[in-house]
Amino acid sequence: MEAPVPSGTTEAKIVVVTEDGDTNQKQPQSSSSAADGVSPSLHVREDREEVVARASRLAEELATQWQGGFTLSAPRVRPQPGAADPFTFYTAVLRRPRLVLAPMVDMSELPFRMLCRKYGAELCYTPMYHSRLFAEEAKYRQMEFSTCPEDRPLVVQFCGNDPEVLLKAAKFVENDCDAVDLNLGCPQGIAKRGNYGSFLLDKCYWPLLYAMVRKLYENLKVPVFCKIRLLPSLDDTLQLARMLQDAGCQLLAVHGRTRDNKGLYCTPADWDSIRIVKEALAIPVIANGNIAQFEDIEPCLEATRCEGVMAAWAALNNPALFSGQVPDKVALAIEYLDMCEAYPTQPKSIRAHLCKLLKKQFQIHEDLRERMLTHTKTLPAIRTLVETLKHRLDNDIPPVLRPPKEQIEEVDDGEAMEGGALFAQDDDEF
Ligand SMILES: Cc1cc2nc3c(=O)[nH]c(=O)nc-3n(C[C@H](O)[C@H](O)[C@H](O)COP(=O)(O)O)c2cc1C
Repeated sequence: MEAPVPSGTTEAKIVVVTEDGDTNQKQPQSSSSAADGVSPSLHVREDREEVVARASRLAEELATQWQGGFTLSAPRVRPQPGAADPFTFYTAVLRRPRLVLAPMVDMSELPFRMLCRKYGAELCYTPMYHSRLFAEEAKYRQMEFSTCPEDRPLVVQFCGNDPEVLLKAAKFVENDCDAVDLNLGCPQGIAKRGNYGSFLLDKCYWPLLYAMVRKLYENLKVPVFCKIRLLPSLDDTLQLARMLQDAGCQLLAVHGRTRDNKGLYCTPADWDSIRIVKEALAIPVIANGNIAQFEDIEPCLEATRCEGVMAAWAALNNPALFSGQVPDKVALAIEYLDMCEAYPTQPKSIRAHLCKLLKKQFQIHEDLRERMLTHTKTLPAIRTLVETLKHRLDNDIPPVLRPPKEQIEEVDDGEAMEGGALFAQDDDEF
């Protein structure tokens, strides 16, 4: 078994959720457990009829409460039982974050969050975790979720469609984060098949949304947040946002695009609508969409009047985004690898980040990209490859069209494609 060996110079403690839900403070461990495990998938199919039936059953059970949510004209807030009101929480616990790293499947993992924090991210979201897998599979929890004391403030995001299951999943992390977020924005086919994300924004599911938020609100130690997309009608978006607030949501992140407005040719995010949502609520709101560079942040805050701005793509391209710096990409890639040494993660995440960060360089030195995706399994091997790239760039050495066999340090047994595969398929769908 090959395992990346941490250099051991960093004293960081990693929290991994164990079988019984306890959290262990561990020294950085090798990521071999992740690399050797069966990679779980978010492709959970759930019977749509069953989810609709659950929603209508809940609609009956909750009739009095959730109608209150719909008819609400004035903003009403429910501070978490025994906790500060949402704005006090935002200021005192979250430390008033304005610069927020978005949740990204496989890519807002611990070392990337730590790199973004180093460069100014003030609040970070984990990748989305599937609540059913998280609640039921210890291996999934161990492979996908890790954090450490410096990784705060932190929001852990889940998708799901069952209040009980969602709560069970959230209970595993409530001691290791500042809030739990419900993903109501994922527009991908896997979310449609699994009945989660933005596919729960249709009105027939609102009682279910109400019940899920309420369940977390009443039973978790930490506040519940939601992340939504705009609905085709602004009026419906306002009703939805107020309903979530009424259910107990303590912070709302709004991606200013609709479910259908996705992919490579999507239109710009609608900051005006985000502002209208913000003004209709009495909880903190984070604006998301149209942040391509540091210079877009202030205009977004001004236009939307939100408490903070969330960025995904731009941070993948430049993890130093929030600092206003634009460091050399190879230097950033090496810094990211240093973070991976201190805070081990899965090879699929490392490869995905390097493919993104070094996209231009790999377009020229294609042989190295290919080697990374097919022949490197360990962190030291990936680092050697990035150093080779740096050496070539520093010394104007041209690409090698075919890597000679003797240059291949490790021959993979076929598991190495995840990062590349993620990018090939899903790059433009969010
Ligand atoms: C690689 C990638 C993975 C994403 N994964 C998630 C996710 O797990 N949960 C979520 O709510 N949104 C996810 N998104 C959407 C982003 O959080 C964000 O809403 C969207 O990209 C718009 O922000 P941007 O314009 O700054 O990229 C993802 C986006 C990207 C690019």
